Amino acid sequence: MKQEKKPLITSGFTPEEIAEDLAPLVNFQEEGLAKKDLEKMFEKRLIPHFVRYDLPEFQSLYNCFPEEGAELGAQLSLRYNQGVTNWIVSPGGVLLEELCCQALCRLFGLSASADATFMYCGTYANQQAIYLALHRHAERTGFNLAQKGLSGFPNASKLAVAASQEAHFSVRHALRILGLGEQSLVLIPIDKERRMNPYKLKALLEEKGDKREIFCVVSTAGTTSTGSIDPIAAVSDICEHHDVWHHVDGAYGLAFRLLPKLASRFEGIERADSLVWDPHKQFGVPIPNSLLFVRKKEDFDRMAIYGEYFNRKDDPEPNPGFKSPPSTRPLSALPLVAAIRFQGMKRIRERLGAPLKAVRKTWEKLDSHPDFQRLHTPDTGILCLRIVPEKFPAAELDNLQKYIYEDIKKEGRRSVSMTRLNGKYALRIVAISPCVTEEAVWETIISIRRTARKYSFTV
Ligand SMILES: Cc1ncc(COP(=O)(O)O)c(C=O)c1O
Repeated sequence: MKQEKKPLITSGFTPEEIAEDLAPLVNFQEEGLAKKDLEKMFEKRLIPHFVRYDLPEFQSLYNCFPEEGAELGAQLSLRYNQGVTNWIVSPGGVLLEELCCQALCRLFGLSASADATFMYCGTYANQQAIYLALHRHAERTGFNLAQKGLSGFPNASKLAVAASQEAHFSVRHALRILGLGEQSLVLIPIDKERRMNPYKLKALLEEKGDKREIFCVVSTAGTTSTGSIDPIAAVSDICEHHDVWHHVDGAYGLAFRLLPKLASRFEGIERADSLVWDPHKQFGVPIPNSLLFVRKKEDFDRMAIYGEYFNRKDDPEPNPGFKSPPSTRPLSALPLVAAIRFQGMKRIRERLGAPLKAVRKTWEKLDSHPDFQRLHTPDTGILCLRIVPEKFPAAELDNLQKYIYEDIKKEGRRSVSMTRLNGKYALRIVAISPCVTEEAVWETIISIRRTARKYSFTV
């Protein structure tokens, strides 16, 4: 029987080769092209260099193919109302977004006083959360941050944010953009599962003397490298005790709060001051689709800037644009609502649970394969490992992981990522879409082993 050849996940071409293919696309001309010729050109020259998120071999990053309901929602938004920040551009969109935010607060078990807003991405949501934390700190110091900026603080260089070393780099971006600089980041050590160590956080906040002014603690519910969930309830307790703003970055992991098996790991989010979630990561909704939640809806009042031509203070209708800076942003609520209503919560839980199961099963199976070092117990859908073939020179192991990563990338048949844990290179398998099965992850393991053999021949 003839074996079906699996489609490539991407071309695997070099930047130079891709640039050569794409150059004619940007050769702008006086005359336009027929739609069918345009389509043909993109199909021939561009699409082969895209990545197929819909194949089970895509196991590298947080990208997902569109879910059917989400696609319908996105089309409707594109056809009618794309923008949503104020009542004039879309009364239906505004109210859908507001109602969706309230429904999501309930879905995640947040209190009736909570609220949310859609944002462009998790990065900006984290940034805004830290800004809100700083704003509250300024109010307690006795001034309005929106007016005075950092100059209102007696000693701005003392201001600090605490997060684990595993926190996403968007926290560092936030500190740069807020003018605090990366010097204001205090790193909390992690445990062997790469979760924040709450005892170290407690000790830091209890330090006496001329210490840093920690105004915000960022915990991560699903870290980027390993998908580890920080001990959120313990961090919430500590932050409450010290009256420090607690921000939970659940950009990747918050979705798993919807799985009964994992829900207890998210206890404490209802007490956090703010919370970020990226439905665009595993809900199959188009980018951008991110949310920032706050425990008290009044917290968003700090964001409002009133306009003369719209978003007026005395507008009788709601304007979601008061809750974040953009005056133009998409109606992301529509694809999200459509995705949830089309699938129903039951199918959504199946969709979220499938990749987690694939990763967990692989991790268990690897226990009896000593040529693989498992670098953590997976909390969610990410597995980091190193291949350590018998008698392989220890000094070459880092190069081996890098070689495998590069070789797999070039081949274009599957996609894995690479990270560094404890200073050592590790291969990272991310199961994000529901089509990533246990078999597909195991094939990656086999392919890593096969590629490792190739390396042995080259050194
Ligand atoms: C934990 C975490 N926070 C924040 C972000 C940034 O989100 P975005 O890519 O939507 O800006 C990511 C992205 O992967 C992430 O993993």
